[in-house]
Amino acid sequence: MIKINEHYLKLQESYLFSNIAKKVSAFQKLNPGRQIIKLGIGDVTRALPDACITAFHKAVDEMSDDLSFMGYGPEQGYEFLREAVSQNDYKNQGADISPDEIFISDGAKCDAGNIQEIFAIDTKIAITDPVYPVYLDSNVMAGRTGDYYNGRYKGITYLESTMENGFLPKLPDEHVELIYLCFPNNPTGATISKKELKKWVDYARENKSLILYDAAYEAFIRDNELPKSIYEIEGAKEVAIEFRSFSKTAGFTGTRCAFTVVPKECKAYDLHGNAHDLHSIWNRRHCTKFNGVSYPVQRAAEAVYSNLGKKQVKELTDYYLKNAALIKQEITNLGFSCAGGDNSPYIWIFGNRDSWDFFDMLLEKAGVVCTPGAGFGRCGEGFIRLSAFNSYENVQKAMLRIKEAL
Ligand code: MLT
Repeated sequence: MIKINEHYLKLQESYLFSNIAKKVSAFQKLNPGRQIIKLGIGDVTRALPDACITAFHKAVDEMSDDLSFMGYGPEQGYEFLREAVSQNDYKNQGADISPDEIFISDGAKCDAGNIQEIFAIDTKIAITDPVYPVYLDSNVMAGRTGDYYNGRYKGITYLESTMENGFLPKLPDEHVELIYLCFPNNPTGATISKKELKKWVDYARENKSLILYDAAYEAFIRDNELPKSIYEIEGAKEVAIEFRSFSKTAGFTGTRCAFTVVPKECKAYDLHGNAHDLHSIWNRRHCTKFNGVSYPVQRAAEAVYSNLGKKQVKELTDYYLKNAALIKQEITNLGFSCAGGDNSPYIWIFGNRDSWDFFDMLLEKAGVVCTPGAGFGRCGEGFIRLSAFNSYENVQKAMLRIKEAL
């Protein structure tokens, strides 16, 4: 008899964004004439920057000629892209990350979901609440979380991000070994200062723990005082793995390209306390289970770092930030408290009511899709998240409709 991985049975309903998509599609079937404005999932709506498209086309043409055709590439990514990332995203910012510490992949979601498998099954995990569901669900699937009880998994340390603490959780009271952090945060849009981030790095160094730092939204940071990478913090290279993505930065959600940085100094320990290099272990995993991102996509990603690419990426993210500013202003005018929206494409709004009820109301009365905060964890109850990824005209329309619906 074939047996199921019972840990999957502990998962809550379907994946948050599939659940929302199902609800929206059911609503659309019942109301075929209604124009829906989607400010739910953080999926970009604007075209790839021209610099990326030009590089993409050129690389596709290379594939049409036997002389320039590319077959399997290196699993870790082509040298040209790893060099560009290392130089532009790290060395130019004062963080000494070398090209061979960068692993190109098809998404930060995949990497953030897969990374847990290189750690022991009894690893003590700390996860913020609210949280991007992938960090939690991938550990549930692996059997690392214990049972679900009263809205939480018994084996997880939840780091509460609330209005009271400015959505910056405090360090855990108990000893934890693996800490998931995301800044600018998804879903709250909160950012972290270097001083605050240093406390986490120091904690990890003192406790021989590891931080998994999701920096997928760093391209929206405009405040020069805020860290774009955890490696701007002294000592972080010993205790942090960082995830980045071209998805929100350059509109690659459908094109797929991202990277994970595993510094050579990062260690994890065996049962006897011997240290092992996470870099070689992740490399082993990556080579076994992943066959690289396609050549044209990596060329398109490389173009993000050209002079023209940098300018166009800035324009693209500025565009979404203008939407975010409008949402923030209108929501505040309506009398709601909110966070995010300044250095982030997400606005986290305290609706002061059941967040799924708020979701239903906005869908039915305004034809606007949001993400209910409760889908991100218990501390998300009472909140909704609006995303700035749409056209400015649609955002204006959505805000007008929300005003009328309320
Ligand atoms: C979100 O809406 O939270 C993100 O788009 C999800 C993702 O990037 O996978």
